[in-house]
Amino acid sequence: MSGRVEGKVAFITGAARGQGRSHAVRLAEEGADIIAMDLCAQVDTVGYAMATPADLDETVAAVEALDRRIVAEIGDVRDLAMLEGLVARGVEELGGRLDIVSANAGITGAHGSADVTPERWQNMIDINLTGVWHTIKASLPSMEAAGNGGAIVLTSSYAGANGVPNLVGYAAAKHGVVGLMHTLAQELAEKYIRVNTINPGNCATDLLLNDELYRLFRPDLEDPTYEDVRETFESLPAMNIPYIESIDASNALLFLASDEARYITGIQLPIDGGWAVSS
Ligand SMILES: NC(=O)c1ccc[n+]([C@@H]2O[C@H](COP(=O)([O-])OP(=O)(O)OC[C@H]3O[C@@H](n4cnc5c(N)ncnc54)[C@H](O)[C@@H]3O)[C@@H](O)[C@H]2O)c1
Repeated sequence: MSGRVEGKVAFITGAARGQGRSHAVRLAEEGADIIAMDLCAQVDTVGYAMATPADLDETVAAVEALDRRIVAEIGDVRDLAMLEGLVARGVEELGGRLDIVSANAGITGAHGSADVTPERWQNMIDINLTGVWHTIKASLPSMEAAGNGGAIVLTSSYAGANGVPNLVGYAAAKHGVVGLMHTLAQELAEKYIRVNTINPGNCATDLLLNDELYRLFRPDLEDPTYEDVRETFESLPAMNIPYIESIDASNALLFLASDEARYITGIQLPIDGGWAVSS
């Protein structure tokens, strides 16, 4: 183990699968103990299958297989009290410190603006923006009390810095996450708590690879499959790739979370094969 975050404690939301699980495993490989949470249930306005309790169990097993400790709970980032309770329990069980926060939990939904119902809009903002603020709010008291500084990495998106047709609520929330980051990076710098975003492009997780998102990219077809969208996916980044993998986002997060990035705060780090720069 090379230990790039050895002895640190990381709190990760949306850790049951996808990028969140990958972040938990990557940080554990480098020596961190983990506090993890996930909804593990369906949100009724989301048009693809969300994570399950078995998924979170798999994350727990993967971290423990690396001989790292993990405190995990099912819960909702819309519930501030739940997050505060979990952070308090996790910090106590894992040695009284909290060094890294990954506000990663999120949903998406591909609808033309006219089809965005008030419920779809509200869930998107409540989870993807207010949930990120809740995550920070629940974490800061423990980070500040430990007095070790720290790194907060918010998961924004390509859609946090660019408009994407048919993703209006998602893009609004992810732009909001960037606004949170810009402000908190300034407020928390004197405490050596750094705040940055990672901005993944299309990433090979269940959030992307599903029928609803295929229809977003191929509105001309009734039931598009992955094969129907592959060419469109590959046309987006400057590099000729259809998507990044979760590990690519995790390696970027690991760098920002580690002391290698000790003076990096207030940035958006795209992991998108050159999509943003070529737009
Ligand atoms: N996959 C992509 O193409 C892509 C691109 C850019 C950004 N992102 C962002 O990356 C992050 C991770 O997504 P992913 O790609 O791993 O998808 P995913 O669906 O596999 O993972 C998201 C996780 O968040 C959890 N979650 C959702 N709502 C929650 C809530 N209210 N409380 C707690 N947990 C909740 C889900 O259960 C799921 O486990 C999200 O913020 C997403 O918006 C994804």
